[in-house]
Amino acid sequence: MTTPAAAGDFMSLRIDRKTELAEDIYLFELTRPDNAPLPSFEAGAHVTVITPCGARRNYSLCNDPTDDSRYQLGIKAERGGRGASVSMVEQAAEGDVLPVANPENTFSLVDADEYIFIAGGIGITPIICMVRTLLARGMGNFHLYYLTRGPELTAFREELSSADLAGRVTVHHDGGDPDNMYDFWPLFEKPGKAHVYCCGPRPLMEEIRGVSGHWSQDRIHFEDFASDVMALREDDRAFVVRHADTGETVEVPADATILETLRRAGHELPSSCESGTCGTCRTELVSGEADHRDMVLEAHQRESHIMICVSRARGDELVLRW
Ligand code: FES
Repeated sequence: MTTPAAAGDFMSLRIDRKTELAEDIYLFELTRPDNAPLPSFEAGAHVTVITPCGARRNYSLCNDPTDDSRYQLGIKAERGGRGASVSMVEQAAEGDVLPVANPENTFSLVDADEYIFIAGGIGITPIICMVRTLLARGMGNFHLYYLTRGPELTAFREELSSADLAGRVTVHHDGGDPDNMYDFWPLFEKPGKAHVYCCGPRPLMEEIRGVSGHWSQDRIHFEDFASDVMALREDDRAFVVRHADTGETVEVPADATILETLRRAGHELPSSCESGTCGTCRTELVSGEADHRDMVLEAHQRESHIMICVSRARGDELVLRW
């Protein structure tokens, strides 16, 4: 769990290498300028980066966790987003130094007899780290489903078609047509014992949540760091949040989240994923109708709680206890 990090909480890491993985997707390799070892991490971890445009974004670490000399991040330029990922791809160059926070993990790989990995688009980054981790442990008890629009947008293609992974990877291209989405129902129809890790765009995660509703929910894990594009929508409008006890009111503009707005108002609030998947920013909802956009709260919890990193108001006001 983190609170908003001050500048001093960030390491200064140098971009040692920047290589194209697929169309508009780049691999960044970050090291300390003095080549000292980096803080350790485990599969599923992410780091917060202050991008060249000044925005903070979380990016999953995709390299072998036993290598403490570098962090590898796979970043896709989200052309319809808010500019952070585009600034990384277009402005960040080899030799530049970026502020990077210590790794955190809200998508940990638990010990299990079997795993199902489901990655959509750039959601492959934490998943490839899990795959590499299991292979390094000599474990082959997993299958990866990797969904992309087409081969040109598919990262790590060579690695995923290697002999080590033969029979363990299904790559599906949908051509950008939702009607061509992979049919997961046959996989989920009968509740299984596998742990499911899903990272990708919101429609994919909603599909997996839908087909896995009859599975034990502690086996289903979600992660989504596409916050450049998903937290805000074009038709979002401003509303007010009021503190249930102090009466303080803050106007949340159309182009900011509740979390961002409260922080700007001086409140230190915990967060981690900032994409509605980890549960860290859970806040008591006292009254008002919320527009819930998270992947964490169950139906009965939505009457009394809200994830303020992504969710908004349907009406003019929400009364919260933050
Ligand atoms: S910070 Fe993770 S759900 Fe809000």
